[in-house]
Amino acid sequence: MRERILVLLLLVFNYVAKGETADEDLVTLKSLMDTLKKTPPNWEGSDPCDVWDGIKCENSRVTSITLSSMGLEGELSGDIGSLSELETLDLSYNKDLTGPLPRAIGELRKLSTLILVGCSFNGPIPDEIGFLQELRFISLNSNSFTGRIPHSIGNLSNLYWLDLADNELQGPIPISSGSVPGLDKLHHAKHFHLGKNNLSGNIPPQLFSSEMALIHLLLESNNLIGKIPSTLGLAKNLEVLRLDGNSLSGPVPSNINNLTNVQELYLSNNKLSGTLPSLSDMSALNYLDLSNNTFEPLDFPSWILTLTSLTTLNMENTQLQGEIPDSLFSLVSLQTVVLKDNKINGTLNVGSTYSKHLQLVDLENNAIDNFEQKHDHLSVKIMLKGNPVCYETVEGIATPYCSDNQANQLSYRTPWNNCQPSTCSLGQVASPNCECAYPYTGTLTFRAPSFSDLGNKSYFQQLEKGLMQSFESHHLPVDSVLLSHPTEDPDHYLELSLQVFPAGQDRFNRTGVYTIGFLLSNQTFKPPKVFGPFYFDADKYEHFGNSGTMESSKSVNIGIIAGAAVGGCVLVVLLVVAGVYAFCQKKRAERAIGQSNPFRRWDTAESKGDMPQLKEARRFSFDELKRYTRNFSQANDIGSGGYGKVYKGTLPNGQLLAIKRAQRESKQGRLEFKAEIELLSRVHHKNLVTLIGFCFEHDEQMLVYEFVPNGTLKDTLTGKSGIRLDWVRRLKVALGAAQGLTYLHELADPPIIHRDIKSNNVLLDECLNAKVGDFGLSKSIVDPEKDHVTTQVKGTMGYLDPEYYMSQQLTEKSDVYSFGVLMLEIISARRPIERGKYIVKEVRNAMDKTKVLCGLHEIIDPSIGLGASSSIGLVGLDKFVDLAMKCVSDSGVERPKMSEVVRELENILHHSLAAGGSNDESGSMISSSYEEVSRGSSSCHPYSSESFDLKAALSYPKVEPK
Ligand SMILES: *[C@@H]1O[C@H](CO)[C@@H](O)[C@H](O)[C@H]1NC(C)=O
Ligand SMILES: *[C@@H]1O[C@H](CO)[C@@H](O)[C@H](O)[C@H]1NC(C)=O
Ligand SMILES: *[C@@H]1O[C@H](CO)[C@@H](O)[C@H](O)[C@H]1NC(C)=O
Ligand SMILES: *[C@@H]1O[C@H](CO)[C@@H](O)[C@H](O)[C@H]1NC(C)=O
Repeated sequence: MRERILVLLLLVFNYVAKGETADEDLVTLKSLMDTLKKTPPNWEGSDPCDVWDGIKCENSRVTSITLSSMGLEGELSGDIGSLSELETLDLSYNKDLTGPLPRAIGELRKLSTLILVGCSFNGPIPDEIGFLQELRFISLNSNSFTGRIPHSIGNLSNLYWLDLADNELQGPIPISSGSVPGLDKLHHAKHFHLGKNNLSGNIPPQLFSSEMALIHLLLESNNLIGKIPSTLGLAKNLEVLRLDGNSLSGPVPSNINNLTNVQELYLSNNKLSGTLPSLSDMSALNYLDLSNNTFEPLDFPSWILTLTSLTTLNMENTQLQGEIPDSLFSLVSLQTVVLKDNKINGTLNVGSTYSKHLQLVDLENNAIDNFEQKHDHLSVKIMLKGNPVCYETVEGIATPYCSDNQANQLSYRTPWNNCQPSTCSLGQVASPNCECAYPYTGTLTFRAPSFSDLGNKSYFQQLEKGLMQSFESHHLPVDSVLLSHPTEDPDHYLELSLQVFPAGQDRFNRTGVYTIGFLLSNQTFKPPKVFGPFYFDADKYEHFGNSGTMESSKSVNIGIIAGAAVGGCVLVVLLVVAGVYAFCQKKRAERAIGQSNPFRRWDTAESKGDMPQLKEARRFSFDELKRYTRNFSQANDIGSGGYGKVYKGTLPNGQLLAIKRAQRESKQGRLEFKAEIELLSRVHHKNLVTLIGFCFEHDEQMLVYEFVPNGTLKDTLTGKSGIRLDWVRRLKVALGAAQGLTYLHELADPPIIHRDIKSNNVLLDECLNAKVGDFGLSKSIVDPEKDHVTTQVKGTMGYLDPEYYMSQQLTEKSDVYSFGVLMLEIISARRPIERGKYIVKEVRNAMDKTKVLCGLHEIIDPSIGLGASSSIGLVGLDKFVDLAMKCVSDSGVERPKMSEVVRELENILHHSLAAGGSNDESGSMISSSYEEVSRGSSSCHPYSSESFDLKAALSYPKVEPK
């Protein structure tokens, strides 16, 4: 006290002398410094208004204190109450500021903005806060406040922002009764952010009325109980509603459907029961989370299919049953579907028109027994573990959808702005503009974003732009911002790391820091709407420049001098070493540059030297292919896969083309693209699809193939193409595909393993000859010493060699395994895994060679022609099945080589033909027996121009199945 009087005396003297700051405020500030440690170093002298960091005055009275991120320590004393003209108090992000919020705060009758975000205040929020009639903005979130929310806050009729989230507040949500005020009186309030506390009791029905302006109601992660009041439907302006993580029970009131502006609705992790009402009027919904409630068993609600803005649907553990409609996945904005832990059954079909934003479909632990995979390498992460469709994994046929892998969330990081970052000195960080500096950093937390795709650049780029615009319009010396590490935290908040870089200097001074802090703490900065309500929490900033303390700047200087002296010696040594090293590296570097950019010279057509070694493939320009496909028109779109779309094209000479155009996301690296072209252009065989050329420009990657008119074997087996194959024709298709594979394994140099043999990748030409295509996963065995390559396991569910899966060693025998599965598919017309049953196992169990059709009646495709003329039976079927089963032996060494498979198939075909085995029934759309095809058109003779002819085949030594 004596000290204070002394100060007072001194100050009065000073004030008289200078006549600047009102003495009372100066005294108050000085006395605040008794309990507040580490105030800015320029808080000295007698004129706070002019010089002190963070103080603003009007008419010599202090009206604003903004000390965000100043590293303050200690407590806020009751003396603050004397600053009677104070309108703004921002002490945010001072982690070491503790103690209670003094009752004297109630004396600041002019206060309109109170921000204490991210400090360590504790104790109750004083009732006196209710005296502050001018208060419009309260942010006390992320402290350790305890006790109840004071009823008196209900007196603050001008309040529009109330953020008390992330404290330890208890008791009920206060509402008015009689003369006692409550939150229901705050008709101008737009934001109640009360999540992450220990609030208890009911959500009071009186809280809501039609006069309310409320747009964000956040009550998540409390201990609220009872029913959701139906009066909630009156709060028509609501845009974000989070009631998740409480113990709410009873049914969801149906008039919640009246809230047509709600974009984010979280009701998850409660005890809600009864039937879920239709929310079909909530057409603005982007994010819907109903997980972990105990609703009555419900079929997939059809009203969800009308929510065209939906990006995220989470109905994990909600008693969903029955099938999911395919059309769900074509909701245009859809990114994430999580329906795990339900009783969904039947077939999952993501369809061919699924949303292009779709990232994740998590259906783990349901009863799905079939997955209709239209796209070979779907870019969507599908999770089906714990469904019958995955039960077959005991065979070792694991698949990506059945595995444990977590969704590999894409992650955003602000890219370098066309520059090369150099290494920065200790503590400094390279900005996106590659300048080393000490950034101001912290975490942006978005409490209810309307999206779930954390890899989507455009959202984050909008956010960067918004931040920069905001800093610029407030004339802040900011060079750039860097966003990184988007993550979803357990409360389903989106957290994002923010780094703000100074312009012109390597560090911010205090003015810069507290001004940026204030801009983010008082919500002057508004992120793009998709991010929803947010708060910022800053890390401690310890690099203040200019107005920084003398000591720290001195030590920095000493550091720099010392560093420079040591650095100088080291530099000399380094230079010598570097010189020698550079000399040695020169040649290697030149080579490396060439390798890292294979198209560097390939792009200029003149320099033939670096062109890939293409035998016949030609290079097409983008414009040419655009012309040949009529601008990639819909009419020419003939299919799609994980890599993109396939278009039909016509050369000026009439030749038909199939053009595979990689979509943006699936573009391979240039090296891989080049490798695939090189691989493809050195294989030429009648049973392999021929590569005609490629296009690489305008950010486009396209492969141009011969057009194979009768589509995939799969479409024929499933009946989709309308072509029916009889037994002999099936034998020929198998033989053709086997010959193509034999060429790859035994004649190509170096040998090639296809790695994705399946019925979708066997095409049928106009004469129904098989042609193997899609070499997207193929591998060459370059090392002649080895018969395998060790590589990441890729392929398709059901066709994958278990030995390869387990050892990651890919051999020719892996293709043989897939081919065996393909053979079984050829006779059964079944997908390898259908309704949870694996064809290999089915055949193995059912096979009985003593019976007609080897006991496989149930399995053999009826349209193979077992009709009237079936007296002949399927000649050689037993040998065919035997051969297939040998191909799918567990161990690769027990499987035959492809050339042996070819020989045996020829053998079977010979016997079948000799027995007059074509049992083609008249009336099938395409007559497909050997005789008729060869009679019909000589150019269509399946083996006319090739080495194999029947006579020769007859003289092959027979390979009897053991
Ligand atoms: C709100 O919803 C209820 C039940 O769905 C309905 O009966 C009522 O008319 C709606 N009220 C308004 C104002 O739209
Ligand atoms: C549902 O509950 C499970 C188990 O407690 C939890 O792991 C999961 O995160 C919850 N889902 C959501 C969406 O909160
Ligand atoms: C799927 O479940 C529903 C309801 O439980 C049932 O009626 C239906 O028969 C099931 N469908 C299949 C294919 O199992
Ligand atoms: C702080 O930095 C800003 C911009 O770089 C500058 O205008 C201002 O004068 C500096 N303040 C002090 C006290 O050095």
